[in-house]
Amino acid sequence: MGTEPLDPVAAMTAYAAPPPRGAAFDAWRTWDGRDDAHGVIAAGILAANARNVQPWRFAVGEHATRIDVYADLTRRQGALDPFDRELYVGLGCALENMVLAARARGHEPGLHLVPDPDRPEHAAVLRLTPGERARSELYDAIPHRRTNRGPFLRLPLPRPLLDEIAALAGHDPGGPALLWHAEEAERDRVARLLVEATEAVIADEGQSLAGHRWYRGTDREIERSRDGMTVDTQGMPPLMSTLGKRLPAPSRRTADRFWLRNTRTVHVATAAAFGMVTVADADDPVERMRGGRLLQRIHLFATARGLAVGHLNMMTVRADRERELGLPPRFGKALEELVGDPGRQALVTFRIGRPARPAGTSPRRPVATVLGTDAG
Ligand SMILES: Cc1cc2nc3c(=O)[nH]c(=O)nc-3n(C[C@H](O)[C@H](O)[C@H](O)COP(=O)(O)O)c2cc1C
Repeated sequence: MGTEPLDPVAAMTAYAAPPPRGAAFDAWRTWDGRDDAHGVIAAGILAANARNVQPWRFAVGEHATRIDVYADLTRRQGALDPFDRELYVGLGCALENMVLAARARGHEPGLHLVPDPDRPEHAAVLRLTPGERARSELYDAIPHRRTNRGPFLRLPLPRPLLDEIAALAGHDPGGPALLWHAEEAERDRVARLLVEATEAVIADEGQSLAGHRWYRGTDREIERSRDGMTVDTQGMPPLMSTLGKRLPAPSRRTADRFWLRNTRTVHVATAAAFGMVTVADADDPVERMRGGRLLQRIHLFATARGLAVGHLNMMTVRADRERELGLPPRFGKALEELVGDPGRQALVTFRIGRPARPAGTSPRRPVATVLGTDAG
């Protein structure tokens, strides 16, 4: 079933605001300047990652044929990600970009996910051997992909397009899979649960504080940290964004209320469909990284087709918090029911649709900052 856009480049760039000026956004402009291991890492750091904490470190070794990928455990989200689920999903997102970039730059990527419980921070090894240059539409979408927190147009997505996206998971029955909630009744159910989970997150002092820690209210803060959540990426109309940057930073409580209102009236209200990546064991770091690779692939594919993705993980965030604190598993149970298969578990959830306006660009720490010198 053909879903080719008329002009792929126009489709991708129409809904990605160009990166603002400033060193915090240079990574988006310089990402494809090098063909070597550094160039592969430069693609990795543009990946989606929860709260833009950028939970990664890299090391290049063996004459630039080996990249070791580490979880940066100093950049944990704490109460918002008590078991590091999102941290490892974010590493998987970066790995997907790196594999695509390796191929596009003439390397055959050999990826080994390191399942070592004694050294949880050593996440993966990517070996680069000479290969064919293979550029893909997913690779071309890397610098145009944005998380979109603005309204989507109220247009349904055709089922064949949703099927095409689900097929990105491949055919491994034990691997990550994509489950859609696209019909009206299931959409309403997911929407209600997401709003309730957002209410629960902001009512939880520990989670509210953990989120606020990554909020960067001023250009100065952004240039200094080059990470976190900014006014420009909140999906507001451009005039409101400009105003928001001039006003004093909102209090934590005000920001929480704004987030809840937007979740209710914009994020879930305008979603064409909700997607859920499922895996057999959502506690396994390897499955989390494989699920993260699929999530990034979905986001890149959507970008290439002029669609927008907004990640919405308040249900899994609450389910993990319930486990951490020994609370009744309200969202844990709701997720099990949504998955509907005792052999699979929800890993992450998102909304998809046709964007109403471009999404802002989030800052990135440069390769030099996330690169160590030793590999192995
Ligand atoms: C595992 C994971 C969980 C995320 N959860 C949320 C979420 O619940 N709400 C949200 O607005 N964005 C969420 N995001 C999106 C990130 O905040 C976003 O990727 C990051 O800020 C970088 O922005 P970018 O995707 O535009 O590059 C999530 C991303 C990942 C990979």
